[in-house]
Amino acid sequence: MTEQRDGFIRREWWKESVIYQIYPRSFNDSNGDGVGDIPGIIEKLDYLEELGVDIIWLNPVYESPNADNGYDIADYRSIMDEFGTMEDWEALLDGLHDRGIKLIMDLVVNHTSDEHEWFVNSRDVDSEYHDYYVWKHGRTDVDGFTGHLGPEDEAPPNEWGSFFGGPAWAYDEEVGKWYLHMFDEKQPDLNWENPEVRDEVFEMMEWWLNKGIDGFRMDVINLLSKPDSVTKHDPPLNDTNMWEAFDGPRMQEFLEAMYDRVLDGHDAFALGEMIGQGMAMDTARDYVEAEGPLSTLFHFDHVLLDHGGEIWERDDWGLNELRDVLNRWQYGLAEKGWNSIYLSNHDQPRLVSRFGNDGQYREESAKLLATLIFTLRGTPYIYQGAEIGMTKYPFDSLEEFRDVETINPVQNALDNGTIESFDSVKGALRQNSRDNARTPMQWSADDNAGFTTGEPWIGVNPNHDEINVETARADPDSIWHYYRELIDLRKQHDVMVYGHYDVLLNDHEEVWAYTRTLGD
Ligand code: NOJ
Repeated sequence: MTEQRDGFIRREWWKESVIYQIYPRSFNDSNGDGVGDIPGIIEKLDYLEELGVDIIWLNPVYESPNADNGYDIADYRSIMDEFGTMEDWEALLDGLHDRGIKLIMDLVVNHTSDEHEWFVNSRDVDSEYHDYYVWKHGRTDVDGFTGHLGPEDEAPPNEWGSFFGGPAWAYDEEVGKWYLHMFDEKQPDLNWENPEVRDEVFEMMEWWLNKGIDGFRMDVINLLSKPDSVTKHDPPLNDTNMWEAFDGPRMQEFLEAMYDRVLDGHDAFALGEMIGQGMAMDTARDYVEAEGPLSTLFHFDHVLLDHGGEIWERDDWGLNELRDVLNRWQYGLAEKGWNSIYLSNHDQPRLVSRFGNDGQYREESAKLLATLIFTLRGTPYIYQGAEIGMTKYPFDSLEEFRDVETINPVQNALDNGTIESFDSVKGALRQNSRDNARTPMQWSADDNAGFTTGEPWIGVNPNHDEINVETARADPDSIWHYYRELIDLRKQHDVMVYGHYDVLLNDHEEVWAYTRTLGD
């Protein structure tokens, strides 16, 4: 326990840890099929140990048809063939634990794959599984709806759009009803109002914890409870938009049940991804206050600053806006709760290309951004490749993209004429697309950056002859060594973990200055 000026701070291992995120598909391919895999991660365990990280967050490795790269799970208790076997996964866990590194798994329970047996069975309206998903009747009282997606004269149950473009409802002819999918059509939302669904999820979480994992990163977790207008009405009332779908009325109750039933019995780390923008601090604190239900959260406020309305649009931002949104969280969770500090992940373009300069000042700005991540108050996250300053990818055609979140809306917009040509949006997609973060890890200057001996599932950045792990480790002034030093510093000095944050020069347009102070 450490006494702080802003109250009594609880020591926790996950506050003192540095988290490294592995996107397995793009990390290291051991068998030459062009797709990263679990044995490939095992080959790099010494690398992770030398970097000095404490926790690995592994993106989904469960069985999946990969409509959304593993975020569409067909079986929560088995490993995707492309990634290896359950024995491989167990060897990975042992290898990490032998090195004193913890493992957290992705928990994706807002939705499953449409190929999950629950969903397949839910198509039978008499089955107990029907109520596992959000099946609703369409609206028939809609004048002039020209919906080509369902039966004639029927409109989707409400006007929500999916985060990946198009309506959030898909019509199923066999069932004669619509199901909700906040993401891709192949990712039907689970019905958390159904206690059976909650039981299934809690049992599955317990199963993984009993296998020895150290916690979960919880995908879009504040979407589990949907507004009353959807849950209590069929068809739903059309009085909410999808931006009101977060933090629904039973959210706190569901998470508290998860805490009581599962998390409380283990010393587990629980990181909730909270989508939306500008979450009220009271809501945030309720999620992450000292007694649970979650350890910490991901918010999106800083990574939405440059987002336009569509994936091919961009907004300007300045230092003042970035500092303002992060200040709000630094002060908002100063006494209660705990921040997660990230500037990139598998959904966010490379930090040095986005917040820094990936040309002349690539090294300097990558180091500056690393300093920011490690000196704000909260648990720092390194997304694979950030430690060598990997950059965005020079995409030249829509065919080079792999991500539904890019392909679906761009293809729709090309089809309906909203955008003229791929070239007219190329510049913005090179900045915004999630695929920028998903190109393979650059291990060496060899073919395919040493990632695979086969044909990589997505392009390898041509700059790998210059930007790669081998080169970075050989240069004592590199970004890689700088990350290593920051990790060491954080281990040596409590102030970097628990120190109180105070901003100076709060409206300077070019300087963001702050202090961290331990004790009164
Ligand atoms: C957030 C994940 O990080 C993202 O990759 C995924 O597409 C959506 N949730 C849907 O699961």
